[in-house]
Amino acid sequence: MVQIILVLILAYLLGSIPSGLIVGKVFYKTDIRKHGSGNLGGTNTFRTLGVKAGLTVTIADILKGTLAASLPFLFHIHIHPLLAGVFAVIGHTYPIFAGFRGGKAVATSAGVLLFYTPLMFVILIGVFFLSLYITKYVSLSSMLAGVIGVIYALIIWDIPLIIVITLLASFVIYRHRANIKRIINKTEPKIKWL
Ligand code: G3P
Repeated sequence: MVQIILVLILAYLLGSIPSGLIVGKVFYKTDIRKHGSGNLGGTNTFRTLGVKAGLTVTIADILKGTLAASLPFLFHIHIHPLLAGVFAVIGHTYPIFAGFRGGKAVATSAGVLLFYTPLMFVILIGVFFLSLYITKYVSLSSMLAGVIGVIYALIIWDIPLIIVITLLASFVIYRHRANIKRIINKTEPKIKWL
């Protein structure tokens, strides 16, 4: 039991590593939470600091989820990888190392899926970029990928995945409530590079 709790705490701490804050402050002397949408995530890093920083933060945030989901396997602990992944997503969103002001749960959730079902990860990345190409909204495309993720899990009928992806997709939508208001008001920024 103690081992299970320790692995879940480790997953939370891993998720809490604030990649956006570290890259921004160390290499650009910038707190990205004071710029753009104020979100501590890959998209706002792209927006504020450019492609190199944005890609670095997005990949780091994805890998946090992948590594956290692999912890039960690495430590030979009998808990579901998706449960460890959920703790990393909570850490990414409410990071202990960054005043509990983190990201919107997208990249780290994707990283969890990358470990658990790489095919689903690839499909959802495809959905995300197709939607991004059509709508130019990162936020809308992130939420759509979450919803399609729920449908995919229902189709393959994997009960733990259905439960976790439903929770994560709902959480992603909840974290995007300011973006939803901006989309409705037509003030949400569109990407210009696709
Ligand atoms: O992953 C977050 C993205 O969907 C939206 O980010 O900065 O536009 O609120 P942002």
